[in-house]
Amino acid sequence: MSNEQYNPFNVENSLILAIESSCDDTSAAIIQGNRVLSNIAASQAVHELYGGVVPELASREHQRQIVPVVNAALAQADTTLDQLHAIAYTRGPGLLGSLHVGAAFAKSVALAKHLPLIEVHHMHAHILAHFIDDSANIGGIPTLPLLCLTVSGGHTQLVLVHDPLNMEVIGTTRDDAAGEAFDKVAKLLGFPYPGGPLIDRAAQRGVAKYSFPKPKVEGLDFSFSGLKTSVLYFLKREIEAAPDFIHQNIDDISASVQKAIVDILLQRLEEAMHQTGVKCIALAGGVSANSALRSGILALGERVNCRVHVPAFGYCTDNAAMIGMAAQFKLAAKRYGALASAPMARLPFEHFE
Ligand code: KG4
Ligand code: ZN
Repeated sequence: MSNEQYNPFNVENSLILAIESSCDDTSAAIIQGNRVLSNIAASQAVHELYGGVVPELASREHQRQIVPVVNAALAQADTTLDQLHAIAYTRGPGLLGSLHVGAAFAKSVALAKHLPLIEVHHMHAHILAHFIDDSANIGGIPTLPLLCLTVSGGHTQLVLVHDPLNMEVIGTTRDDAAGEAFDKVAKLLGFPYPGGPLIDRAAQRGVAKYSFPKPKVEGLDFSFSGLKTSVLYFLKREIEAAPDFIHQNIDDISASVQKAIVDILLQRLEEAMHQTGVKCIALAGGVSANSALRSGILALGERVNCRVHVPAFGYCTDNAAMIGMAAQFKLAAKRYGALASAPMARLPFEHFE
């Protein structure tokens, strides 16, 4: 199919097995057209002991989990390998050893079953999860162009989506990612890794009564390292006066930090809307599970009168259904992967081949 004939909304009814193994979730999904028949993920508790993801342990866990996870996805979708039209996997970005497990598995199935292989960019997939036909996705299927704020543990990006195979990063973080900011502050507060969801939970019981300085970054870029440092000094100062300060005020501190991060994100998103004139906005990535960010973007949409898309919780954190959705667009455009192509820890965002 040539690019002229390619219609981004017209994915065929092909049955795809998708594999996601870029970080610490082993996930497999079966997707038919843009309907998810199964989406199974096994997370890796082993990292909790170390306060962060340990790459070597992650690859070993993927190796252990990939076959049972794929079998569960096939069984739940009542599908066999013989019925598939293609197999998709995350080529990057992510942890190299982890990516290799998914890539090697997908290539073996493609070879054994003579199936087309589709390689997917993890960050494209987070965004394209919005094109899944699922009533739990708030806002339904987006119109284009779409302006997406992608916020995960490793990335913070403002992405202008022209079509599913043509997207442009117009803003990014200069230092920490939004999820990293949540997790680092959570660590200062004594929460286990990953602390983002725990800050969210505590914040719901607290009041955002402490304020932190806003970063001064030009253009549409973000910065979170200053916030982390000012929280660190704030805590040091308060603990000197009252050693039990964190324990007694954990809910209010969490609410305040969460508000600071969400304000930075939504302010930039609003500026990007003004600059681009795009009237359709979305959230993607693990941090889009955050309750304040979800309600904040919905309020922003109401205030400036634009369409807002918020992913279902199941499509926020890493999952294979989003990889399958991205693969449907590539399959429809006949953009096949190669058996010889290797996973890339830093796969460039501009890689749509
Ligand atoms: O997209 P994701 O699952 O993995 C990456 O590709 O990084 O995102 C994980 C990140 C972690 O930093 C985690 O703390 C954060 O998303 N996160 C949250 C929430 N749920 C997950 N951060 C704040 N509030 C939440 N509810
Ligand atoms: Zn992710």
